[in-house]
Amino acid sequence: MRRAVIAGTGSALPRRQVTNAQLAETVDTSDEWIVERTGIRMRYIAGEGETTSSLATDAARRAIESAGIEPSAIDLIILATATPDQTFPASATIVQTALGIDDCVSFDVQAVCSGFLYALSVADSMIKSGAARHALVIGAETFSRILDWEDRTTCVLFGDGAGAVVLRGEDSESGVLATRLHADGRHNQLLYVDGGPSTTQTVGKLRMKGQEVFRHAVTNLAEVLREVLAAADLTVADIDWVVPHQANRRILDATARKLGLPAERVVITVDQHANTSAASVPLALDTAVRDGRIKRGDLLVLEAMGGGFTWGAAAIRY
Ligand code: COA
Repeated sequence: MRRAVIAGTGSALPRRQVTNAQLAETVDTSDEWIVERTGIRMRYIAGEGETTSSLATDAARRAIESAGIEPSAIDLIILATATPDQTFPASATIVQTALGIDDCVSFDVQAVCSGFLYALSVADSMIKSGAARHALVIGAETFSRILDWEDRTTCVLFGDGAGAVVLRGEDSESGVLATRLHADGRHNQLLYVDGGPSTTQTVGKLRMKGQEVFRHAVTNLAEVLREVLAAADLTVADIDWVVPHQANRRILDATARKLGLPAERVVITVDQHANTSAASVPLALDTAVRDGRIKRGDLLVLEAMGGGFTWGAAAIRY
């Protein structure tokens, strides 16, 4: 059966690491509060010259190298981001040019923290239909540029970064087994940016009602995880690794408890990277592949939830 197999992974982080203690020098917060409520210990913040497309390009280069192909073999680029370099053109086309790819299908998708799952699902469909052979799927963000640094309830939670995978279409038992996506726009006021080209003509700042987002997240993530397993004819006991969106350690623990999933089977990087939105799942995936936790043949479930609300999951034989 033709499947989209993960041929390579890569990731990239900005140069500057910012610990909770460093943040507490300018924001009314403390290392103790942030660790206890979120599990976050540090994040990376983009500096001069570092943009969503530059981080995406670095992550993409590593993914292409680990897939053992030339950039010219890529015929599809989907970049998931809510913080593009410009309103248009798509940042995916900037990455395409930086990689020296003359002609391919190239576009951005915007589903905030679920963006990578949305992008992966679209790439999977295009590979299965024969529209693409080698797809570069990237999640990249510079959320530091849409944070209100005066608002301690949000600015401590996010960081910048990028992650990427190369998917290859081949007849295989491995690859993407099933994906499930959802959206419910009624909750859009719980997590949003208060600006945009068609309304304020500004970029805007992130606003969030954290406690309400938290409650929805645990319910939605546990449900979509069960749903994608059922679609692939698998159970929670078959999972080797859940690679979740890294928003908050307490959300990860509560979701695992609800599913009866042992904590040792959840990849956790939120302590190191904080919430990097669309970058967080591929960044966690690449981290766990490179440190040897995730091995060929493992059954992975990727999941995420974000503003919109949007949420989704993918079951993948690595
Ligand atoms: N440092 C210190 N104190 C802080 C603080 C900070 N960074 N942020 C908030 N506080 C204070 C609040 O002002 C409040 O003080 P008060 O009781 O005197 O009013 C107190 O801490 C508790 O705030 P509360 O909002 O009830 O905390 P919480 O336990 O719900 O944790 C979040 C807040 C944001 C960490 C939590 O709700 C959360 O993680 N939600 C999910 C958010 C998320 O992951 N969104 C992205 C999904 S894609």
